[in-house]
Amino acid sequence: MKDADVIAAWMGKRTETIPLWLMRQAGRYLPEYRQTRALAGSFLELVYNPKLAAEVTLQPLNRFDLDAAILFSDILVVPHALGMNLTFAEGEGPRLDAIAGKAGLVVLNEKDALGKLAPIMETVAMVRDALPKNKALIGFAGSPWTVASYMVEGRGGHDFGVFKGWAANDPDGFQQMLDVVVRVTVTYLDAQIKAGAEAVQLFESWAGALSGADFDRWVIAPNKAIVTAIRALHPVVPIIGFPRTDNLVDVQHFASQTGVDTVAVSQGVTPQWAARNLQGQLCVQGNLAPELLLEGGSAMLDAAQAICEGLDGGPFVFNLGHGVIKETDPAHVGALVDCVHSFKRRALAA
Ligand code: CP3
Repeated sequence: MKDADVIAAWMGKRTETIPLWLMRQAGRYLPEYRQTRALAGSFLELVYNPKLAAEVTLQPLNRFDLDAAILFSDILVVPHALGMNLTFAEGEGPRLDAIAGKAGLVVLNEKDALGKLAPIMETVAMVRDALPKNKALIGFAGSPWTVASYMVEGRGGHDFGVFKGWAANDPDGFQQMLDVVVRVTVTYLDAQIKAGAEAVQLFESWAGALSGADFDRWVIAPNKAIVTAIRALHPVVPIIGFPRTDNLVDVQHFASQTGVDTVAVSQGVTPQWAARNLQGQLCVQGNLAPELLLEGGSAMLDAAQAICEGLDGGPFVFNLGHGVIKETDPAHVGALVDCVHSFKRRALAA
């Protein structure tokens, strides 16, 4: 069996057919996931149980002809490994005991972090062993700003008031915290790649909360530092960046300045804009709205077809603009996979 085409696509090749995988392809919309999670006891026990986490990683590939598996874990294992208390309350999302300012940084224990993440590298190795050669395994981490926003707010996606206060009054202190996250993330992604991950994705889910000079300092610079370090260690491993923002200037800036091989875009970016402004330089990954996958039927299929047409001219990996919604009917995923894989790419003039 030949190597996964999706790897060539992430590295900038226009492949014969369009490869795809979906953010949150393993998760609560699958009954077999809910069963394994119940067996594990809790979400975190599932994440740190290599056998069960490997099983959950493979579940969507057992059902659907997806081109890649993504490691089953979470971006918040990094602050957890640094010594922060982490809980996932049912229906409420993650909670961390927030760090209130520079003095709070003493709780972070960088030295022991990689050791605490060791079970995750076992999961990676088990999945790579079990996965057919023509399917790729994606490792991942949160980008520093997104992870830091949880570390200082204690939760995600609110008004970012604590960050804004801290970063404005003591930018050097905030920078120190980001630097810790950058260093641990580099050693963590390096370990995932050594264990068998063939590509890595950086999730900058809260990129849209910042713009302008804040975006440059807290989004571009730390992502670039990670990409540069991983590239030096692993020159041919594709690095995907996902700056989740509708600000087109920032998306373009992220794509051109961080050094990523592939930029993943959310549904706020039109395929035509992405084709014109991004695809000449790098692979684009995206960007069906998860709400359309939830809806299914012709609304979903027409939108998927339009995305394939819009991004057909260059290197492209199909995905969603954000994660699968937990109420999604798994049959819709099957229909989407068939639709994307049966898309006939047009011949390009030489
Ligand atoms: O299939 C995959 O995509 C791989 C696994 C994965 C998870 N989280 C599993 C998970 C990945 C790549 C993530 C990344 C992640 N985690 C991000 C970045 C991507 C994004 O969604 O923007 C963020 C911000 C987090 C933090 C996080 N973890 C939140 C906000 C939540 C709660 C959201 C919810 O849907 O309840 C989680 C929990 C989580 N992570 C679940 C899963 C499958 C649900 C937990 C459960 O089983 O109850």
